[in-house]
Amino acid sequence: EDDGTFQGIPLSEITNICQQPPTMSDMKDIRDRNHTFLIKPFKYDSNDLKREPEPLYENGTYVDEWDQDNVRLPCSQFYITKNGTQRWPTIQGSLTKLQHLSETHMATMEDIKETIEECAGRKYEFNCLERLLNEIYSTDERAHFMSTVLSNICSLALNVDKICSRPPPLLRIGSNRTVTMSQKQAASLLACAFFCLFPRRFNQKVGSEYENYQNPNFNTLFQGGRTGGSIWKIEKLKCIFHYFQRITEKMPNGVISFRRYQLPDSCIPKWSESNEPLCKIHITKNKAIEDIVGLLQVDFANKYIGGGVLGDGCVQEEIRFVICPEMLLSLLLCEVIQPNECVFLIGCERFSSYQGYSTTFQFKENYIDQTPKDSWGRKLCHVVAMDAIAFHNRATQYTIKNMKRELMKAYTCFRIPAAVTDQKSGLATGNWGCGAFNGNKQLKAIIQLTAASQTGRSLAYLTFRDQDLVMSFYKVYEYLLNEKATVKDLCNYLQQYSTLYKKLSLFDYILQTSVSSLYS
Ligand code: AR6
Repeated sequence: EDDGTFQGIPLSEITNICQQPPTMSDMKDIRDRNHTFLIKPFKYDSNDLKREPEPLYENGTYVDEWDQDNVRLPCSQFYITKNGTQRWPTIQGSLTKLQHLSETHMATMEDIKETIEECAGRKYEFNCLERLLNEIYSTDERAHFMSTVLSNICSLALNVDKICSRPPPLLRIGSNRTVTMSQKQAASLLACAFFCLFPRRFNQKVGSEYENYQNPNFNTLFQGGRTGGSIWKIEKLKCIFHYFQRITEKMPNGVISFRRYQLPDSCIPKWSESNEPLCKIHITKNKAIEDIVGLLQVDFANKYIGGGVLGDGCVQEEIRFVICPEMLLSLLLCEVIQPNECVFLIGCERFSSYQGYSTTFQFKENYIDQTPKDSWGRKLCHVVAMDAIAFHNRATQYTIKNMKRELMKAYTCFRIPAAVTDQKSGLATGNWGCGAFNGNKQLKAIIQLTAASQTGRSLAYLTFRDQDLVMSFYKVYEYLLNEKATVKDLCNYLQQYSTLYKKLSLFDYILQTSVSSLYS
């Protein structure tokens, strides 16, 4: 698969979880109190594709947890209006009406608007949604969406209590919590987001319950101002609606997990003493992170996971989340990510292919995701949300404090917990923090090389069309290899460079400085 333009080892020499799937304990044997399953213990069998994961509680029982530790689902009996009446019956009424209209091929944009406003008890602006549905979609596309697809979204939202059987827990700061659910449950929660049904998420003012969370409701995605929204925002909507279309044709029967992880203080490496050698590396320019199947893929995240995905944002994280819309559930679940934390998105399926980037981003076509599954039925797709610091003033990235923070963040994401005995799969990353967040590519390359080396995992480094970086990074890497540099030495280079960044580039500094001279 390599196109011959890479440097370092070929991708095929990097350990890949699709070739060596991780050993997994049985779902029913998981005794981890921090792991919440919304499904019954389930064993995936690739010979029995009809078998579906079932909700944890049976026969339509809904276990109504309505508190600070769980997602507040709209179907809760405790979700009430100011006057003390329950909200869910009103929501059911509106959604049932809309579903009926869609099934009789009569639903219009106005009906969707009315439904959402009735459900939320507030007004929104829908210019972007309106432009897509009424102007951009062809007559056939509109008809299909307004009937079959919309009806299914209604049904998924209407049945959220039965499909989920309990709310997912929130992944709060420091909680180290994991939640595992079926793709169908994910679809139902996304249908609720479509109708903007998640309460208390609209107000993120200081002191409000969800001040440290994203708003997972799609209202911001639908709004477009007088212009009807940027063209790339409409393309993002197309991707998400394509997902709803796909799951309407056939509901996927897999499983996904969201795992919040905090690096224990006792696991912070003693960087200045580490003699770990350089990890192996593959550097290339023509591939995208999402195409490197079987390696841990880095999401260049915002500490508010998803960043601007439901707004105007359209760079790496936002694009990833719209082509794999199940990832949008992390906005529902995750509190703001701390410097010593990260979030793993496991098993999410990709539904769309795309072209362009940022303002030129476009939904291209259907994407069939052939990633194999693990024994829980999760696609062997592991993504880690790794949030860099946003540098308004580029000079501040060279302070020791900030370099340490970025190194710790990368290490937190790359580290394999001691309990895992499998072979260490490779990492797929690249210009982390160097786009919207304004970081320096050379600095981030060395920081990530240091963190990866400490974990002993190989690095696939995708420079995103930057041929100079392929060559210059590999030159520095070879130099360091020759010098038999270790993690400790890399840290020393970084530390000394902290006062030299105005004079020369980090790569030039390294090439001019032997390891032994670092200590003289
Ligand atoms: N594969 C490999 N490299 C890529 C890809 C890809 N698919 N897409 C982009 N790059 P950026 P940041 C390269 O700006 O600076 C979002 O709003 C490309 O060179 O997405 O960490 C988040 O929510 C690009 O310039 O990441 C945060 O708020 C570089 O990676 C914020 O952006 C950085 O991509 C994070 O900004």
